[in-house]
Amino acid sequence: MGVMVVVPGVVVLAAAVMAAEYSVVDYGARAGGRADAAAAFLAAWAAACGDDGGGASGYRPVMRVPAGTFVIGQAYFRGPCRSAAGVVLAIDGTVVAPPAVANTSWIVFHYAHGLAIRGGTLDGNGQAFWACKAAAGRHCPPGTTTLDISQSNNVSVKRLTLVDSKNVHVSIFDCASVTLQGVRITAPADSRNTDGIRVALSRDVAILSATVRTGDDCVAMGPATSGVVIRNIRCGPGHGISIGSLGGGAGEGEVRNVTVESAVLAGTQNGLRIKTWGKPNAGRVAGVRFARVAMRGVENPIVVDQNYCPGNVNCPDQSSGVKISDVEYEDIKGTSATAVAVKFDCSGSNPCTGIRLRNINLTYDGRPAQSFCKNVGGSASGVISPQSCL
Ligand SMILES: *[C@@H]1O[C@H](CO)[C@@H](O)[C@H](O)[C@H]1NC(C)=O
Ligand SMILES: *[C@@H]1O[C@H](CO)[C@@H](O)[C@H](O)[C@H]1NC(C)=O
Ligand SMILES: *[C@@H]1O[C@H](CO)[C@@H](O)[C@H](O)[C@H]1NC(C)=O
Ligand SMILES: *[C@@H]1O[C@H](CO)[C@@H](O)[C@H](O)[C@H]1NC(C)=O
Repeated sequence: MGVMVVVPGVVVLAAAVMAAEYSVVDYGARAGGRADAAAAFLAAWAAACGDDGGGASGYRPVMRVPAGTFVIGQAYFRGPCRSAAGVVLAIDGTVVAPPAVANTSWIVFHYAHGLAIRGGTLDGNGQAFWACKAAAGRHCPPGTTTLDISQSNNVSVKRLTLVDSKNVHVSIFDCASVTLQGVRITAPADSRNTDGIRVALSRDVAILSATVRTGDDCVAMGPATSGVVIRNIRCGPGHGISIGSLGGGAGEGEVRNVTVESAVLAGTQNGLRIKTWGKPNAGRVAGVRFARVAMRGVENPIVVDQNYCPGNVNCPDQSSGVKISDVEYEDIKGTSATAVAVKFDCSGSNPCTGIRLRNINLTYDGRPAQSFCKNVGGSASGVISPQSCL
């Protein structure tokens, strides 16, 4: 049996070990209060993070945000924590950001190994910021990521709701072994840059049973990312599931071993997209599988675009140095909102290879849609509509 630690708050039974609870109200936060409660949150974190449970194996102290609404400005929760298994952040209520943009990230976890976030709502309160962005000619700050988890391993986030971020809702950066389960993300379709989940420089990331409705990417995977599994996800409105943009800078790591299965994309700008800059920077995407995906009125259901170059600056010959290979599309069905439902627009200097289509049925306006192929090699099998151009 573990050691029982009694510090402000209730003691609960977690597995075989009694875990202490550190509630933010015991450190001065008040539900419904309008003052910035960040100091109380940080004090509760410091107490939980400093509690090693007497060294009991598997011991996990709990930081609790009870029911009600709490306003906090920026909060930087830093680890590593003293309990080797990590800290549980249990949220019953809603945490709201102030309308003003202060920093590039709002709620930050850094070196928070073993972190487990359970329940609750994070409200980025982005309306005033989006209005600034939408008003032409005004200079606006860059926006604020709602939940920024970096350099943290063994992280689990369950049943968390995120709404109205001023920028990306969830960022996973330089992490290993992360599971997001039952996460719900909502922002208006016309809110700019409100990506759902961004993953970069990370390995072994699972995104399970998520719902993402925003104004930008549903999930975006950046450089140096491997071992991503996305299963049972619903996206839309928004820009769909994206690998990229890659090749915007030199020396980017590869994107490898990505699986997206059992997905529904509804009313999104893209479905399954791989996007690279039309620049010579080297890079690689390999070992990607997309399976059992339903498209409902998606503008570009299947798209590889290696010509990204807004403003056409520094993109000699629009020729991407990113090599894309071994990408499989299986059981992709539904409706396209444009005539070209399958588009492989690959690099002249690094053609796509090993693209495999199996059982594809995408219609446009009640008719078979069209395919477009450039600099691409691969194969098709099973039912293929639109007709394959591979
Ligand atoms: C912005 O972040 C910095 C560094 O973490 C911090 O010192 C500062 O208080 C933050 N500003 C606001 C308004 O939260
Ligand atoms: C995750 O936790 C397990 C068990 O505590 C540990 O063995 C493993 O090394 C951790 N993984 C990472 C990437 O830190
Ligand atoms: C691919 O990623 C999954 C999920 O992280 C992992 O279980 C599997 O071992 C990886 N496969 C390879 C070949 O690396
Ligand atoms: C594609 O799906 C449509 C709508 O469900 C169906 O009518 C059509 O027969 C299917 N085409 C093929 C080639 O299976």
